[in-house]
Amino acid sequence: MKQDKLIHQAAEIIKKGGIVAFPTETVYGLGGDAFNPMAVARVFEVKGRPSFDPLIVHVAENYDLVQLVSKVPPDAQKLIERFWPGPLTVVLLKRDNVPDIVTAGLPTVAVRMPRHPMTLKFIELSGSPIVGPSANPFGYLSPTTAEHVRDQLGDQIDFILDGGHCEVGVESTIVSFFEKRPKLLRPGGVPLEEIESIIGKVEIGPFHEEGPPAAGMLPRHYALRTPVLLDWSEKNIDNLRDKRIGFLAFQEPKSFLKFTHIEVLSKKGDLREAAANLFFAIRQLDALNLDLILAEGVPEAGLGRAIMDRLRRASRNRFTDSSLRSE
Ligand code: TXA
Ligand code: MG
Repeated sequence: MKQDKLIHQAAEIIKKGGIVAFPTETVYGLGGDAFNPMAVARVFEVKGRPSFDPLIVHVAENYDLVQLVSKVPPDAQKLIERFWPGPLTVVLLKRDNVPDIVTAGLPTVAVRMPRHPMTLKFIELSGSPIVGPSANPFGYLSPTTAEHVRDQLGDQIDFILDGGHCEVGVESTIVSFFEKRPKLLRPGGVPLEEIESIIGKVEIGPFHEEGPPAAGMLPRHYALRTPVLLDWSEKNIDNLRDKRIGFLAFQEPKSFLKFTHIEVLSKKGDLREAAANLFFAIRQLDALNLDLILAEGVPEAGLGRAIMDRLRRASRNRFTDSSLRSE
């Protein structure tokens, strides 16, 4: 079968030290052999990512975690059993053999088992865990189609394994077990409520994405061409009537303004559907040469937490006209 051939081809490239963009249920990743520091270095280089920002290591089914980590605390084990394969990343104490370049010198390593069937096969055939930051240039939105990857990184990588649209659409939830109590480092594809229903209350944040853990050293925006405004109200955008404005709507809008373009995340207001469409919709709007994108907030529960986190990052950009904000 054609797909099998492509998966084999991708795995062969990894074995030779190459780098491959691969689909996951969350977003596309930029893969290299986690135990080959040269391949990992190329991942950093292609992505333009600072070397102090550690990578997630992806494993296939039946992988023996003790090859990567020295200990799996009981709560981490419970989450792994419940959510793997799936959009959950756990941060655990690493073994010495995990190259420092992967973890940016941290004593911990972030690990996850993605759910995409092509990718599980691809990792297994590669014969090694695969590092995978999101396959976007550093600081940009994560790609949710192979096309997005091709557009931005296509000429710099050895292969793109096309697995279609990412089903979840936002990155994995990251939970760290490094400190005494489990800590949520990034809201993502597994809702916090589901995690807490299994291991009880977890500490929240500080969140980070594409930046060093617990430090505010890097710009945290998504480097979009178009400014995104999240906190706004109808009356304070009145003076923008002559501008080209896009609307990122959560649900079918009860339209009151004339927008140049509207992207609806989920007509019926379903958070799961909204998450799956989020990055795609923002990219669509960003490509239209608009003056401004107005985003509608979503309820901050379940997948809504991850969506709001990403919308806040997208809106924390060059846009500084505070008179437009609703506060
Ligand atoms: O859904 C996902 O997680 C996607 C797909 C491809 O698996 N990957 C992804 O990777 O989002 P990346 O590199 O874009 O984001 C990983 C985040 C970064 O914010 C990084 O700082 C953090 O995980 N991270 C990685 N290792 C860590 C560690 N040992 N301790 C704390 N944070 C870590
Ligand atoms: Mg990323």
